[in-house]
Amino acid sequence: MKTLKDLPSLTGKKIIVRVDFNVPLDDEGNVRDDKRIRHALPTIRHLLSAGAAQIILMSHLGRPKNNEPNLKTDKVAAKLSELLAEEVVKVDDWGENGLPGAKIVMLENLRFHPGEKSKDEAEVEAFSKQLAGLADFYVNEAFSNSHRKHASMMLPKLIPGCVGFGVEKEVSAIKKALESPEHPVVAVIGGLKADKLTAINNLLDISDTILVAGALAFTLLKAKGKNMGSSKIDDEGLTEMGELVDRIKDDPKVHLPVDAVVADDFSNEANSKDVSVDDVEDGWMALDIGPETVGHYVAKLKEARTILWFGPIGVFEMEKFSHGTKMIGHTIAESDAVSIVGGGDSASAIGAMGLTDQITLVSTGGGASLKMIEGKELPAIKILE
Ligand code: 3PG
Repeated sequence: MKTLKDLPSLTGKKIIVRVDFNVPLDDEGNVRDDKRIRHALPTIRHLLSAGAAQIILMSHLGRPKNNEPNLKTDKVAAKLSELLAEEVVKVDDWGENGLPGAKIVMLENLRFHPGEKSKDEAEVEAFSKQLAGLADFYVNEAFSNSHRKHASMMLPKLIPGCVGFGVEKEVSAIKKALESPEHPVVAVIGGLKADKLTAINNLLDISDTILVAGALAFTLLKAKGKNMGSSKIDDEGLTEMGELVDRIKDDPKVHLPVDAVVADDFSNEANSKDVSVDDVEDGWMALDIGPETVGHYVAKLKEARTILWFGPIGVFEMEKFSHGTKMIGHTIAESDAVSIVGGGDSASAIGAMGLTDQITLVSTGGGASLKMIEGKELPAIKILE
């Protein structure tokens, strides 16, 4: 992977930086969480101090359908300017007149341009070309979008490029955990969808123990013939992934819950109780792992030297069903193992518990880090190798 130190002298050069400022916004379109903007600051500061003539920042924001004004990058640019304490000039259009001469510019939402994620390759290439024409060098500081083959991610086909500090740190940490981890490796995989089975399948080769939680666990328990009442089950995923389900559900490395917190409604006010997974009645749904499972999972995590956590344990947004997530989160934070947490929900649970600083790496990218855990290549990283 080419890094910032592989670029030749940047003095007097124009650098185009693909950042992921796809940040949560409030109802007025203000930035609600600036983590992703802060994340890019070291790279931007490095480019400034290396004497770059111009830094051109570009990002997508949301999934616009109609160039919605609340998805313009103006407020993101203003937040960046505030954090950097430098002027950042927002540019609406750079096609006809090129860019203003400001030191730092921020382009309009890339997804306002059909070429950014078009299905027509020629359209994508034309947009890549237009963006590449603005600069001498390219930097990818958007790990969380690196699983996407969008126009702005593919500029190294046209101009020399490298990854920024954030991408370098994130990719290296995940690669190391997957390729040369210290054992025992314990993976905690939760979430809703059976598509995480691809990740579990890949992790079977490197992990000593895989602790399954979330609706995924209840889906596998159903596949083992248990009655899961009205629990959320990804039946479609079960059918699609039939072969994987068979391989995974009985693998001795894979641990499934032995008990669950069940409720008679999907609500924090519902009646709830702890039951064995053999005793889930019709009309009740499992919304968290039960106390015996928590104890067992915590004990396994305490033995680990490397921990990977992807996907929520229970419905942690509801206090009544957040115990499993809290116990797993705190155990990982207190462990001195290398710990990697990925996936939007697990990362935000760690953030909400104030534990981010006690984790080796909280990945900025749910989809991108999951792809790596599945053993797949990220096209926007591959192109920089
Ligand atoms: C993310 O937030 O995961 C990235 O910015 C990618 O966004 P997308 O899922 O809309 O492509």
